[in-house]
Amino acid sequence: MSLTFAADQDLRPYNTFGLSARAAHFCRLEDLSDLPALLAHPLYRQGPVLWLGGGSNLLLTRDYPGLVILVSLEGIRLLSEAGGDVIVEAAAGENWHGFVQYALSQGWCGLENLSLIPGTVGASPVQNIGAYGVEVKDRLHEVVCADLSAGGAQTILSNADCRFGYRDSVFKHEAAGKLLVTAVRFRLSRQAQLRTGYGDIARQLETMGVAEPTPLDIAQAVIAIRQSKLPDPAVLGNAGSFFKNPVISADQAAALLARHPALPHYPAADGQVKLAAGWLIDQCGLKGYRDGDAGVHDKQALVLVNHGQASGEQLHALSRKVRETVAARFGVELEPEPLIL
Ligand code: EPU
Repeated sequence: MSLTFAADQDLRPYNTFGLSARAAHFCRLEDLSDLPALLAHPLYRQGPVLWLGGGSNLLLTRDYPGLVILVSLEGIRLLSEAGGDVIVEAAAGENWHGFVQYALSQGWCGLENLSLIPGTVGASPVQNIGAYGVEVKDRLHEVVCADLSAGGAQTILSNADCRFGYRDSVFKHEAAGKLLVTAVRFRLSRQAQLRTGYGDIARQLETMGVAEPTPLDIAQAVIAIRQSKLPDPAVLGNAGSFFKNPVISADQAAALLARHPALPHYPAADGQVKLAAGWLIDQCGLKGYRDGDAGVHDKQALVLVNHGQASGEQLHALSRKVRETVAARFGVELEPEPLIL
């Protein structure tokens, strides 16, 4: 394989908001053996550089003046198996949902609650994707990285090295721009240990008439829930939850709950409390709100959508309006989840 560079590339197919920003230069990394040449290339050295996976966590508000590199590394392999535990490695460019389905088809359980999350395997540890009671950190063994400051030399991070938090990891901090995730190793199991505690899942299984669920049933339940609430990016541009659920102090939570007893809340690390941002936005009357083609999804207020021709700037302005409205009403600051460029 060799690298080919395109100039003035439309990024619309490469971001799930469906925004038409252009990249001054663009290339795909399909073979890891091309990485040293890429890192030495004048377009890379000149910068700026944006590494892109599925583009499902990105809001492009303008053209990109540098080099966009699409990480298209592929491959899934079983590394070891002992006593029902399997270690499986998936390359960074693999589609996340495709990988989850493949794992289930092999009898490797543990990722079923994370079905249908958009994006790639390589992005999964960066924001520690999570849904329905499971986060990727709960199943992650190691992350294989390329050290961009050392010619792409391989370096392996353990689960602890990744310093996972809620939608957070070392890849958003010290390792940002320094380590490129090239593959992720998961610890899965042939013996199902199901997480069905999340209210929506229990209800959905009941609707499906399933009393003793298998991992495939859980996957089907999660897919049905997500399809009922979350827009399909292929139909309606979006980047999943646009905001993180805010984590606030126990004192602030107690004061808020005294005024709003119905506010959904969950215990978080260090005695803090996590609030449902979707509920806060919904209570402000913004669910289904629309400013031109930039909108708040009508079934889940945490998701901003592009009804067709919205620009990145319009979506950004809408996100500011949502933040300001929630801050004024509840005194809670919402933090955007996607990378805003
Ligand atoms: N709610 C409302 N109105 C809304 C949205 C939510 O009242 O418009 C209420 C719900 O009724 C529920 C609570 O808020 O009581 C929580 O809602 P939900 O179960 O839909 O989950 P969420 O907290 O809004 C998080 C993740 C999702 C993940 C779900 C399920 C974040 C930022 N989002 O959403 O992840 O699928 O839990 O586990 O943590 C994503 O990150 O892109 C994403 C979709």
